[in-house]
Amino acid sequence: MSIHEQAIKIVEGKTTLLVPKVPVDTNIPPKMPAFYNPQAKLNRDLSIFIYKAMAKKLSGRARMADSLSGVGARGVRVAVEVPEISEVFMNDLNPIAIDYAIASAKINEVYDRCSFTVMDASRFLIEHASPKNRFEIVDVDPFGSPAPYLDCVVRAVRDKGLISITATDTAVLCGIYPKVSARKYFGYSLNTEYCHEIGIRLLLGALAHSAMRLDIGINPLFSHSTGHYIRIYATIASGARYADETRDSLGYILHCFNCFNRKISSMIEKSCDECGSIFRFAGPLWIKEIHDKDFLLHLLNKITLTKEYEKMIRNSLNEADMPPTYYIPDKIADRLQLTVPRLNDIIDAIKNKGYRAIKSAINPKGIKTDAPSSVIIGIMKELNR
Ligand SMILES: C[S@@+](CC[C@H](N)C(=O)[O-])C[C@H]1O[C@@H](n2cnc3c(N)ncnc32)[C@H](O)[C@@H]1O
Ligand SMILES: [Zn+2]
Repeated sequence: MSIHEQAIKIVEGKTTLLVPKVPVDTNIPPKMPAFYNPQAKLNRDLSIFIYKAMAKKLSGRARMADSLSGVGARGVRVAVEVPEISEVFMNDLNPIAIDYAIASAKINEVYDRCSFTVMDASRFLIEHASPKNRFEIVDVDPFGSPAPYLDCVVRAVRDKGLISITATDTAVLCGIYPKVSARKYFGYSLNTEYCHEIGIRLLLGALAHSAMRLDIGINPLFSHSTGHYIRIYATIASGARYADETRDSLGYILHCFNCFNRKISSMIEKSCDECGSIFRFAGPLWIKEIHDKDFLLHLLNKITLTKEYEKMIRNSLNEADMPPTYYIPDKIADRLQLTVPRLNDIIDAIKNKGYRAIKSAINPKGIKTDAPSSVIIGIMKELNR
């Protein structure tokens, strides 16, 4: 049976995709005959905006590789919707997925700008590791953890090029399996209220480790945690100087479960400097900015975003230079048996005391602030009077 007999056409963005027909009651998209997840459309929409913005910044040629492309939902969309990208390479281990990608490329009349391969993603990336063959943009979107591909992806991207990575093993990155995180991502995760930010920072930390040994540095452009996945976008820069800067961007988040205190440190410290209880730690992980202000401004100024993404990018821009970690007043209120004041009232009160405070872009119930936990707790108690 040809794939056309089992396929349906759907439209994502400006692209028509041929995807496998699945029973209407299927919640989790099947891996066979080929994987296509309609719920990841928003994730793909955002990547299109970011690649467009990146392509406008690149000098010379712009070639994109979708290294675990599935049916080509992202890759074919890039070929159709980002004409600044001259060539798109789609690769997947599943030949049926690539048959779908080829069919979609033909329907959209972008077949001539696309290349297709069926091989293991690591092999595909290494085949593009020589300087002339490297890509300007590479996406890594596996089932579960991207850890097996990090070494190869760094080799397959040209200097100043962009890497985008999705991780869906959020239980590992967000503190349910800290030891698995340590072996896959080089750093322990920790189950705190801001564990999704820790997950982002661990993934960036793991990419940094893979890059540094090749005398390459990384520069995070934008990261988000949405639903059940974490996604990072980072450029790389060749040279020991950049690798040294990257090394200096790694450290630990120390957390006190007794008084909510957190501290960023290049070393593990044993006891909380606020209350003397044991400090738990996450890391080593990325402790510097996870968003690049200039890039986000470029994105806002040069690309027409959907309302939803414009809001997300503006929120991220606002928190770009705020400290890592956020506070969840619900959690504090729960422990101290307080009623939860309105988030905006807490934010105003923190600002009135001379600190900075904004809503977290990662968690809408969170507050990013440079105020110590004792000030936040004091404010919440005052607002309860
Ligand atoms: C999450 S899906 C990719 C989804 C796709 N990026 C999209 O946006 O629709 C992961 C894909 O990785 C492929 N895959 C699994 N192991 C692989 C490997 N070692 N090398 C290359 N592809 C692999 C699977 O066949 C599957 O299509
Ligand atoms: Zn403490």
